[in-house]
Amino acid sequence: MMSLPSKVTIVEVGARDGLQNEDFVSTDAKVALINQLSQTGLTHIEAGSFVSPKWVPQMADSGDVFARIEREDGVIYAALTPNLKGFEQAMASGANQVAIFTSSSEGFCQRNINCSIAESLKRFEPLIQAAKAQHMPVRGYLSCVADCPYDGPTQPEQVASVAADLLALGCYEISLGDTIGTGTPLRIARMLDAVQRHVPTEQLAVHFHDTWGQALANLYQALSMGIATLDSSVAGLGGCPYAFGAAGNVATEDVLYLCHGLGIETGVDLPAVARAGWAISAELARMPTSKVSLALHQQAIAATKTKQH
Ligand code: HMG
Ligand code: MG
Repeated sequence: MMSLPSKVTIVEVGARDGLQNEDFVSTDAKVALINQLSQTGLTHIEAGSFVSPKWVPQMADSGDVFARIEREDGVIYAALTPNLKGFEQAMASGANQVAIFTSSSEGFCQRNINCSIAESLKRFEPLIQAAKAQHMPVRGYLSCVADCPYDGPTQPEQVASVAADLLALGCYEISLGDTIGTGTPLRIARMLDAVQRHVPTEQLAVHFHDTWGQALANLYQALSMGIATLDSSVAGLGGCPYAFGAAGNVATEDVLYLCHGLGIETGVDLPAVARAGWAISAELARMPTSKVSLALHQQAIAATKTKQH
């Protein structure tokens, strides 16, 4: 039996990664979602991003969202920040953690943040310095760790090299993103093996999108390699405006069910997350993509019918 972590941290990215991809979601609905997620035991909630509103108008109200959420003690409310301007806005909004983001492929980096990988690292330097001065932890996202929608397959050594650069820059954790969800467990294992030679395992997280239905299998692979920080998205919301057709992140409900079934502690209340997922899905007029959420929904309907009879 391989050894799995006894405990994991879930980084809930639905309010950012999920809602950045929706045409319009009201500020009220975003605030309600984050407030509901804050009551589930989650300790890390990505609440928005301070990027150019011309590039991603869906996140233009992140300042208002941060101003209006009811914060729980001990919960990190994080924001994505591509540059110093975004960092300053995040600080003014009271974010208690920020995340920078680049790519392990040049094509996606250019499309997503309008610069090369090398330029992006240079651009992050003043942000990291400012964050250090304010004792603000900085997370680093690395996209396209399996494939790039513009450049094709990404070599594991290339992922390892940029991950090492992000670590050297001062990120406390690197989140490895399979942005278009094409990775399979074997390729993910090879990529993780290369990265783990350069970055300590406890400073790695995985961020799997589920476009090809491999996210849970990839996640299990990552768990078996000691990764204990998992990004996921309530109701399976998500995608990226610069990775056309990419599906949402692996659903938080599915990750919780898998982890609890493996005896891995998450500290998160699955039915409470499912309820938050049903509420935001109703707002978006669709069903969650999470199978666990749908199964819980069926169970709840069946229980109501039994009570009525
Ligand atoms: P640029 O056009 O090269 O930037 O964009 P610029 O510095 O030349 O500025 C252009 C304009 O944007 C200026 O305004 C700036 O003031 C403004 P103007 O003078 O034209 O009126 N601007 C800003 N406004 C607000 N906040 C800011 C900001 N910065 C500049 N922070 C930039 C470069 C990085 C800004 C742009 O490309 C951008 O915002 N990109 C964000 C793209 C994005 O958010 N993508 C989705 C998130 S990444 C993701 O989803 C992947 C992830 O989930 C992991 C995975 O799945 O792999 C994390
Ligand atoms: Mg993502």
